[in-house]
Amino acid sequence: MMNNKYFFILGNNPALSLIEILAVAQQQQIMIKLIDYFDYVLLVQMDQEFDFSILGGSIKFGTLLDGSEQYDWSIVESILQRQIIENQKFNFGFSYYFDEQKKIKQWQKECEKNSLHWKKLLAQQGQSARLVSSRETELSSIIVSKEKLLIGGCELLLICRKNKFYYGITKQVQDWRDFGQRDYGKPQVDATSGMLPPKLARLMINLAQLPKEQALFDPFCGSGVLLLEAMTMGYQKILGSDISQKAVTDSKKNYQWYQQQHPELQCQVQINSTDATTLPKELVSEKIGAVVTEPYLGPAWKTRPTFSRIQQVQKELQNLYCAFFSSLNQITLPGTKLVMVWPVFRLGQQILLTYQPHLINNRQWQVVDYSQELNNFGIFGISNFIYSRPDQVVGRQIITFCKQ
Ligand SMILES: C[S@@+](CC[C@H](N)C(=O)[O-])C[C@H]1O[C@@H](n2cnc3c(N)ncnc32)[C@H](O)[C@@H]1O
Repeated sequence: MMNNKYFFILGNNPALSLIEILAVAQQQQIMIKLIDYFDYVLLVQMDQEFDFSILGGSIKFGTLLDGSEQYDWSIVESILQRQIIENQKFNFGFSYYFDEQKKIKQWQKECEKNSLHWKKLLAQQGQSARLVSSRETELSSIIVSKEKLLIGGCELLLICRKNKFYYGITKQVQDWRDFGQRDYGKPQVDATSGMLPPKLARLMINLAQLPKEQALFDPFCGSGVLLLEAMTMGYQKILGSDISQKAVTDSKKNYQWYQQQHPELQCQVQINSTDATTLPKELVSEKIGAVVTEPYLGPAWKTRPTFSRIQQVQKELQNLYCAFFSSLNQITLPGTKLVMVWPVFRLGQQILLTYQPHLINNRQWQVVDYSQELNNFGIFGISNFIYSRPDQVVGRQIITFCKQ
């Protein structure tokens, strides 16, 4: 029976957030059925509770209540009323997610006006309440947790799609403190080689769908963002390597720093200095279940590169990655997943992909077709899984391969 309706508010790269949710649901054997999807909003039915805290690519999660055909304050009021805990101050706020932005203002005005009136009535009954608002039409996850809307309060989502209204109550938001601590608080950073955002690292690990007792390997580990993220997720055997001795030392320091703060995390971590194009054959005995990696993505661009310079770098990178695939073939068994970043270069309006299917022997490494998976789920027209910001020269295309 699938009675339980939920919403997910997706991160800045919704295509990636969607495939992460599907991968986790599949791994946890959760039946998930699409209700609706637009922009950053995913509405679903699921037969079990979803462990939202495991995700890297989504911002908010909560229960979805019955919809209505038009704006109806009495529904909003009765939802809020049910959230009040007697004799406790009630903080509440609204976030609006509409497929047509221009309709938001009118709703927002109505809702705030009605809220103020309702607050006065509550005060007359001895119940204190506070409306938490923001200049944006959505409350950020920082506001939601800092203003205590999750415990003893309420963030009510007002969602409008094709003139149908949905109401949602936020149950969890992304743990921005924890991600922030790993992103900015670790002792060793390497701004020159570039660092993977921990949220993306987590998302990539989730795409690998690796059971916790199997070994995870990052052969271009840099300062160890993926290794750290795997630790936080409860992986018990984590291997990392890098050609640079400095990167190996940085990764070790970062791992020790995190381990000191979280002695409860029991895992075996090995970090070595190794060239990923000549991985030692003995690694096969480690029975690596998944390789999750962000390889070298080319030089740090101080100025906008020319088209021919990008092409030259792409060629060099393709050679490196092909040599890495040959080496990986020797140490992996059928069924091993490889989740890998491929650089994407932005030149004005043009997007230049480095990944080309012919580069990889597809009899040995089959690409997971996320576009097809989304079609099967009921979402069409998404074929690019790229993590990037418009101002970046280099974006990250995420591709998952499965060893045949
Ligand atoms: C983009 S960085 C990885 C950053 C890492 N994901 C992080 O967040 O810290 C790429 C890394 O690949 C390493 N590298 C370059 N060529 C390599 C090779 N042939 N074998 C192994 N590592 C290599 C570099 O030393 C660098 O640390």
